[in-house]
Amino acid sequence: MGKRGREIVGMDVGKLRDTLNKAFADEWLAYYQYWIGSKVIKGPMKEAVIAELVQHAADELRHSEMLTTRIIQLGGTPVIKPEDWYKFTNCGYEAPEDPFVRIILDQNIKGEQCAISVYNRLMEETKDNDPVTYNIVLQILQDEVEHEEDLQALLEDFEAMMKHA
Ligand SMILES: [Fe+2]
Ligand SMILES: [Fe+2]
Repeated sequence: MGKRGREIVGMDVGKLRDTLNKAFADEWLAYYQYWIGSKVIKGPMKEAVIAELVQHAADELRHSEMLTTRIIQLGGTPVIKPEDWYKFTNCGYEAPEDPFVRIILDQNIKGEQCAISVYNRLMEETKDNDPVTYNIVLQILQDEVEHEEDLQALLEDFEAMMKHA
């Protein structure tokens, strides 16, 4: 753990690590939700949606890596047991029990909207206190905003197609 790097954090480091660990749990659950969704999905426009789900899954996994790096830099331990993902998560997990395209899109849009709120709050908390975490959170937030946009665009296409079918 880098001593000086930690000293410049102008906020409660323990609390910050807990907050980052909660986001870390969210990212793993989001990763799995996208990944399994891309395997089981059924219905019209399936191929276009799968391409997006696979790309988002890779992004969520990358976010979990960015958060792990920061948690460790701050002297913390990333969540080491998958069963704890459920304990720490902000946004939860929606199992694609009904794998119809529209339902999977709705579930993941809900997840992205929750993630946007979580990272927006984290930006508020870190903006004057921890520029390094702020920068990481900003990069993640940009991706989550793009994810919501991608999924909503697919949903609009899906609805237009159903209307004109
Ligand atoms: Fe993410
Ligand atoms: Fe996302």
